Amino acid sequence: TTESQPPTEAVGPSYRPVTQKPTATVSNSLSHSNVTILPSTPQLLSLLTMIRDKNTGRADFIFYSNRIIRLLVEEGLNHLPVVEHEVTTPVGRTYSGVKFEGKICGVSIMRAGESMEQGLRECCRSVRIGKILIQRDEETSKPKLYYEKLPEDIADRWVLLLDPMLATGGSALMAVDVLKSKGVPEDRILFLNLIASPEGAVNFAERFPKVRVVTAFVDQGLDEKNYIVPGLGDFGDRFYTM
Ligand code: URA
Repeated sequence: TTESQPPTEAVGPSYRPVTQKPTATVSNSLSHSNVTILPSTPQLLSLLTMIRDKNTGRADFIFYSNRIIRLLVEEGLNHLPVVEHEVTTPVGRTYSGVKFEGKICGVSIMRAGESMEQGLRECCRSVRIGKILIQRDEETSKPKLYYEKLPEDIADRWVLLLDPMLATGGSALMAVDVLKSKGVPEDRILFLNLIASPEGAVNFAERFPKVRVVTAFVDQGLDEKNYIVPGLGDFGDRFYTM
């Protein structure tokens, strides 16, 4: 329930003077080098405005979330290593390029993380996808692992861990522990996330300094029920049922 003051900045194209630009709340910044926050561009901010609006219906929520997820996946893939790769173009010239060499897989934290699988599949055809179900234990109120189904060769893969909302970080921390117990080194895990609380992001980044976090926005804080504020409510409910 800590809240950091959200920065408000003028946003818009550079041909407009600052005095004519609308202002919007932009992401908080973090000083952790393993956390990448997508730049608060006018496009990203308008997509986030759509999904934060309580009056946005399910079809639009899915459409605009998918656009943000796509941006997260593309940025996440930028963190994977590439090797030199020269090709010949149809006009007979060579182009010195690069290609990714290696195997990846997605691991979604159920249920909300499954919403990010399609965006990953759109960028990485026939990607293997595993699942982890972690829920709060009614008795201890601590996160508990209920189910995991992961590719058997996961230790040889880069893992894109998927969960749209990073609140306290309890589930994400446990998910990384599960991946590490399967032999995945921390520095081959990338955590893709739409909205993080500052405390969740800092917790996670400090506990696993080699795991890379890519998030679209670091919000203001958590409320007394551990919802992210201003947030967007329950992501899974809005994506799957409302
Ligand atoms: N999960 C959600 O769906 N929303 C929150 O605000 C926090 C966790």
